[in-house]
Amino acid sequence: MSSKLLLDDVPQASQVKTLNTLEAIGSRRSIRWYEPHKPVEKWKVQAMLEAARRAPSAGNFNGQRAIVVYRDDDPEIWEFISDWSQITTQMAPILIFWCYDLSGYDVQGQSIHDLMRTGALDKAHGWEYDRVSNLFPLPGLLPDAIMHRLAAIDLGNAIQNAILAATSLGLGTCLNGASGGARRNTKAKFQLPDTYVFSWLMTVGYPAEDFYGGGSRPRPPFENMFFYGKVGNPFPQDDKATNLLKDLKLIQEPAPKAGRLEELNRLTKRFGLGDEWLTDWKLEPSQQEHSTDVIGDKRFQPLSEAEVKATVPDNIQVDFELKPTVKREVIDKYRKEKGISEGD
Ligand SMILES: Cc1cc2nc3c(=O)[nH]c(=O)nc-3n(C[C@H](O)[C@H](O)[C@H](O)COP(=O)(O)O)c2cc1C
Repeated sequence: MSSKLLLDDVPQASQVKTLNTLEAIGSRRSIRWYEPHKPVEKWKVQAMLEAARRAPSAGNFNGQRAIVVYRDDDPEIWEFISDWSQITTQMAPILIFWCYDLSGYDVQGQSIHDLMRTGALDKAHGWEYDRVSNLFPLPGLLPDAIMHRLAAIDLGNAIQNAILAATSLGLGTCLNGASGGARRNTKAKFQLPDTYVFSWLMTVGYPAEDFYGGGSRPRPPFENMFFYGKVGNPFPQDDKATNLLKDLKLIQEPAPKAGRLEELNRLTKRFGLGDEWLTDWKLEPSQQEHSTDVIGDKRFQPLSEAEVKATVPDNIQVDFELKPTVKREVIDKYRKEKGISEGD
């Protein structure tokens, strides 16, 4: 297990700068452009995994599992990632394949006994050794769909802990979907036991784009999402609190920040992609952030060839060659030409 993209040094705690939780939540973006040659400290990867290990899980189920892969150990790995994530996957030095393991349910009774043993659960809350022994394992009581739902939510908690640890330590991450083929391939590639369900691939590395990804990404209005007492009755927001949250950097400047289009197109060229991959529409403020108008989805305003060219200087030096996205419409053809068979 070695990679020139990994650093072994472990600093003193006093040398480590971290973002606090609120600022890390507010600063986190899905990062889709990475510094492909910039090594990542191994201890930061360990910190992410430890953060995932510390996440809450229903009944202390602890089904979260992760397989870490270093890109330069397996440069072709992007070929079975879904199309919108292929170039992200080529750039990121570290990939983490997140799974949940249903076999945790076999020992969940023991795990709850352990919570009682160590003083997390007490008699006053109704916990008794024999009651727990009689109720668990849960799969005898609950249908499969529920077991998967619980395990997937637990995994989500763990992943988010890892993401926030990464953000707090200056790293970028993005979760990436994997197509049906990727799912099959992942099982074989990592020798996943039958009880493992592969869920998401996470890219990790130092952002090549702005750490703040050109601003915080659009969300529906707060009042459409959160209620007081009953649905439809918005949880009251206090302007003073909103301002405080801005000062604490939980709420940050919305996308697109000035210069974002230029940044995207500069990165496109820097990584060796042709002009046909330059983003050729005008960036504008979110349509959903301050409006309930979700059906008024307007086409973007196209930019002329000259306007697109003007977003990026001619003399950009290419320092990493990305293989262009193979769109899902043609992936079967691509795989056939490369001699990659189903299940490889
Ligand atoms: C479970 C999950 C899967 C995702 N899959 C992809 C993906 O395949 N490709 C991608 O570019 N982004 C993916 N994302 C990132 C989302 O698009 C992103 O979280 C969302 O647009 C909000 O932007 P933000 O994360 O920068 O705030 C995924 C996010 C989650 C939580």
